Amino acid sequence: MIDLRSDTVTRPTPEMLQAMISVPVGDDVFGEDPTVNAFEEKVAALFGQEAGLFVPSGVMSNQICLYELTRPGDEVILDDKAHIFNYEASSAAWLSSVQLNPLKGKNGLLDTDAVEAAIRTKNDWDPHTRVIAVENTTNKGGGAVYPLETLKQLRDIADKHGVYFHLDGARIWNALAEGDYSPKEIGSLFDTISVCFSKGLGAPVGSMILSTKARIRSARRTRKMLGGGMRQIGLLAAAADYALENHFGLLKTDNARARELARIIHQKGRFQVDPTQVFTNILLFDTPGPAEETLSELKAQGILMSAFGPKTIRAVFHFQISSEDYRNVCAFFE
Ligand SMILES: Cc1ncc(COP(=O)(O)O)c(C=O)c1O
Repeated sequence: MIDLRSDTVTRPTPEMLQAMISVPVGDDVFGEDPTVNAFEEKVAALFGQEAGLFVPSGVMSNQICLYELTRPGDEVILDDKAHIFNYEASSAAWLSSVQLNPLKGKNGLLDTDAVEAAIRTKNDWDPHTRVIAVENTTNKGGGAVYPLETLKQLRDIADKHGVYFHLDGARIWNALAEGDYSPKEIGSLFDTISVCFSKGLGAPVGSMILSTKARIRSARRTRKMLGGGMRQIGLLAAAADYALENHFGLLKTDNARARELARIIHQKGRFQVDPTQVFTNILLFDTPGPAEETLSELKAQGILMSAFGPKTIRAVFHFQISSEDYRNVCAFFE
């Protein structure tokens, strides 16, 4: 099967597995795993942040960040397509007792004027706006990328109003692969960052929180409270490090394939997609009838995609789609 349901379906390569078994490890709850310690320092430095904390998943990463930044009764501004709003099992309400204020943006990207207008006064009866959270690239928004200028403007708005700025960078690597900005340029704009190694980079597990030393110290305890304290996780950090070093360079191809397939689909006219609105490795297109019917047709040809609405299908490219697989996918639409 050619599996385009998500970029989380990749399997560890033999080289990655080899990298995992050859690293020194220790008990990370005691802070004694040299491999994860070095990897946390490396990724923090890459983004110009003081410290990092390896966590099992992107959801835990985002949610610990919100917990660290907020107090019960606070409000988080985010796009209405945000993963934190749609796909994290309402855990911001459960864990942090905050309310989310989802704004209507474009392709999952926040509009700066709308954000500024949504920031509330500090009256007793108002929820306290505490965090602006962006997702880059967007998932439900179809892989869109924030321009550096917009992120800087949002940082300025956050500073002006004394609000924190969080990045859900589960797929920040796909944005960085486009080369418009460096990790440091954007990293320094945020109070907290979550990055994932288990999406297009292809690690089996792992995300990381990046922030100040003090916040990471506190996040470490929160991770423990959530049952996320792990022992010899150097093995997982080694897989993530291998993915970063060896798979980052492949993301450009994933992005380019999604855009090229969008052009093919658009030309043929059976399905609807605006190729100018496909930015990185996620392709959303609309079907004339029920999405499930097209998914069955695709499946019969050995291609898996997923429904992203009653008449919308999502295809996500990743490095384990071979050139032959890709040609077969294109052939379906040609
Ligand atoms: C934008 C975004 N943030 C966070 C997550 C959560 O990651 P995880 O599945 O590792 O919890 C995902 C998962 O796909 C995502 O797309």
